[in-house]
Amino acid sequence: MSESGNSSGGGGDGAKFSSGTVRADFNDPLAVMHYTRAAHFLGLWESERVMIRRFFTDLDAPLIEAGCGAGRVTLGLRDLGFRNITAFDFAEEMVEQARSLVAERVAAEARDAKKDARAKIRVLLADATRLAQTDGVRMEGGYGGALFMFNGLMQIPGRENRLAALRELRAVCRAGAPLLFTTHDREQCSAAERVLWRMEAERWAAGRQDAQLVEFGDRYFEDETGRTFMHLPVRAEILADLAVTGWAHKYDALRSEIARESRAVRDFSDECRFWAAVAA
Ligand SMILES: C[S@@+](CC[C@H](N)C(=O)[O-])C[C@H]1O[C@@H](n2cnc3c(N)ncnc32)[C@H](O)[C@@H]1O
Repeated sequence: MSESGNSSGGGGDGAKFSSGTVRADFNDPLAVMHYTRAAHFLGLWESERVMIRRFFTDLDAPLIEAGCGAGRVTLGLRDLGFRNITAFDFAEEMVEQARSLVAERVAAEARDAKKDARAKIRVLLADATRLAQTDGVRMEGGYGGALFMFNGLMQIPGRENRLAALRELRAVCRAGAPLLFTTHDREQCSAAERVLWRMEAERWAAGRQDAQLVEFGDRYFEDETGRTFMHLPVRAEILADLAVTGWAHKYDALRSEIARESRAVRDFSDECRFWAAVAA
């Protein structure tokens, strides 16, 4: 999934993009296949591995992973030795794939006695913007870490809704719990992209933007992996959002500053910014 794909008008009925659009796009067989393949064959990016090891130092801490898709990061966390993982997604088809991959992997590893038998992974159907009210999500004593990887947080249309997701994740975590997520960075882009953003700013100023977009910085595009809604923020926006949702910013850096990724990872995903925060 590359955010530089062609912009498209989406559903065409003039309504704003909503969580319904995003859920339908992630339930689409093309997207499900793409993320399932990544969960089976790609695994964690090197930058993800570096950041998880750096900020998630307690293997016994119960973790919550938002927007788990088909389980790429979920299984990566298990491979790193985390023993208590609750992963969730709001797209039913993704949850089904993640559950079946987790079951398959756990059964194979139990046969080979490769993994800690106490390790526990749950995959739930839940919406990040309404997490705390979802049955079965709350963890006694709070989660000891939260993740929302591969720009999933930015696929929530509307800043208020992204703020709600950050607040909800904070509500289910205990103080001191680390949070890790990624975003694009609208200011750190190529010269060509900068020109496109200037043209987009002019369209917004004149009221000529795609009427389905919710905010400046939103994009909706289509490529071989399906249709994608993505909000591309600036750094100051994320810093402000962390500050008002109970998360203390710890660190952020571009992926290319953290690790050198394989060709397969770069084909799967564009440059992004990693964010690490701690529950205040
Ligand atoms: C880019 S995919 C990443 C999937 C997986 N984490 C990975 O890296 O392969 C983003 C995921 O976030 C999920 N998502 C988006 N908005 C969500 C929300 N409000 N609540 C729960 N999941 C959401 C989507 O359904 C999708 O599976």
